[in-house]
Amino acid sequence: MRKRLGDEGSRKFGIKMKEDSLSPAAITRDLGTNLIGQRVIYYPSLTSTMEVARREAEQRAAEGTVIVADEQTAGRGRLQRVWLSPRGSIALSVILYPEVAYLPSLIMAASLAVVRSIEVVSGLKPQVKWPNDILISDRKVCGILIESKVRRNIVGYSIIGIGVNVNLTLADFPEILPVATSLAAELGREVSRLDVVRQLLVEMDRLYLFLLAGGSIYEEWRDSLVTLGKRVTVSWGKTRYEGIAESVARDGSLLLRQADGRVSRVVAGDVTLRD
Ligand code: BTN
Repeated sequence: MRKRLGDEGSRKFGIKMKEDSLSPAAITRDLGTNLIGQRVIYYPSLTSTMEVARREAEQRAAEGTVIVADEQTAGRGRLQRVWLSPRGSIALSVILYPEVAYLPSLIMAASLAVVRSIEVVSGLKPQVKWPNDILISDRKVCGILIESKVRRNIVGYSIIGIGVNVNLTLADFPEILPVATSLAAELGREVSRLDVVRQLLVEMDRLYLFLLAGGSIYEEWRDSLVTLGKRVTVSWGKTRYEGIAESVARDGSLLLRQADGRVSRVVAGDVTLRD
């Protein structure tokens, strides 16, 4: 994906494109975090922030190191899907070294950080579609991918990858047009990517440190889910479950009531909302 969207987007929304640098200096200036974003590595263009983050984590980069890019040429999503990351979007990965007990909470922390930061910066009200899609008006505005190296119950590293559609002109991407949205499309004006990235790092820092201090973010995460109470199909490889998404467990798994009344616990999968 090599299209430049900034200028097109500006024309479409009838405003002058303002400087929206994601340079480490701009991101870290008076950021006020304790861990996340103390070190930021920026690329104008790279294959995937997950790749660079993995290399950095293998070298034991400082916890909280952030890899951010203006554009990814081989962005990847869950379930081996391609993730479109043109200019105008946000693509970043955060390196963490949590203990294994915290792994299920990382997706909750990342999802809530995205929800809170979009709310603060734009006033929009995103919701979480289990397990880790962030929706506005029932369309996907952000995807989250967590990749961890775990051996014998010891976490080598966890990398949280977050892609946010900020100033995307969706008409340029017919393949995702029916299911995706962007902050600019929702608001009818461009949004500062820098503001979103900075707020995202602040919220992730707060939530992660709160978790490490023994706090629970389960209730806030559960209440942000658009999925609960809905009729859904969950696909995982060749397996498909259908039923009502009744609840989520503290470990993040989805409790699905099937037509025969049985409740299945689903730990991963791709959800389609049917109502
Ligand atoms: C999904 O919804 O399938 C997850 C998408 C995750 C995309 C982000 S963008 C930053 C990081 N780098 C990648 O290649 N993927 C993640």
